[in-house]
Amino acid sequence: MFDWEAAWHAALYGPGGFFARGEKPSSHFRTSPLVGPELATALLELLSRVDAALGSPPVVDFVDVGAGGGELAFAVRSLASGSLASRLRVTAVELGPPVELPGVRWTSVVPSCVGLLVGHEWLDSIPCPVVTGPSSDPWITRWWPSLGDGEQAEVGAPRDAAWAAAVSSVRGAALAIDYGHLVSSRRFTLTGYRAGRQVPPVFDGSCDITAHVAFDSAADAAGGDWVLVSQRDALAALGLTGSVSGSGWEWLESAARAGRIAELRDPRGLGGFGWLLHGCGIAVADLLPALPPWRPNPASFSVA
Ligand SMILES: C[S@@+](CC[C@H](N)C(=O)[O-])C[C@H]1O[C@@H](n2cnc3c(N)ncnc32)[C@H](O)[C@@H]1O
Repeated sequence: MFDWEAAWHAALYGPGGFFARGEKPSSHFRTSPLVGPELATALLELLSRVDAALGSPPVVDFVDVGAGGGELAFAVRSLASGSLASRLRVTAVELGPPVELPGVRWTSVVPSCVGLLVGHEWLDSIPCPVVTGPSSDPWITRWWPSLGDGEQAEVGAPRDAAWAAAVSSVRGAALAIDYGHLVSSRRFTLTGYRAGRQVPPVFDGSCDITAHVAFDSAADAAGGDWVLVSQRDALAALGLTGSVSGSGWEWLESAARAGRIAELRDPRGLGGFGWLLHGCGIAVADLLPALPPWRPNPASFSVA
């Protein structure tokens, strides 16, 4: 029988695999960190709330798991200011080759962390088994009960385990930002990306292979105090709304920034991504106000 998980793993992380050989996500698809500095600004605001809730520890971590080219980690390092900047330690966790970036340390193993751990489009790149219904797999029975005869499904158990382990290594908060679905809206989403194009998911190392994240099972596996909200709502709650003001050059800059924020908050695009936020020893309510729960947007199924 074909071992989907092993083939997926080899295609991305085996010798010569897509990410193992150092393909940078920025060469193949557009993610929020690549839009501009605004996501990092919002995450610094979140980190400052985590820092306050932790009582301003001597060292405060920002850990970027699945860091790709390190764009987000480097932006957070560069934009930090004041007391937080002097206590900030930024770590990029990546299975692919590290990138030399001032002020960012690289590792391939999730470290323990006091601060904020972020997995930005990390969970969707963790390989899964694929089954065809009917299936007695315990994960499918619980989290994909609608799977019909002859239909395929990605089994989210490896992502749940990875997320639970990452969350357990944190004192502060852990945030997964990704595209995903819920038990009420499951569908088979396995696909490939290469050079900006969606392509068939061929397991030969020539393309990224990804599938939507089962947010509900990942949240349940990691447990504790958590919320799942949309990127659109979370960014507004962290102060990113993007008004245009001033005149001349200042107006142009604020208009460009407003355009980038609109892209990050577009409900049919990046704004439709889920933010799964766990408080680890602190309350999520100290970090974000009450927001509407995230709902998958069918249009976002084609975004990666
Ligand atoms: C879809 S890319 C996202 C890159 C970046 N976070 C962004 O949003 O632009 C996923 C990245 O996660 C990395 N990755 C996957 N599993 C990992 C693991 N267990 N530890 C560290 N990095 C991992 C891959 O090598 C790849 O660079």
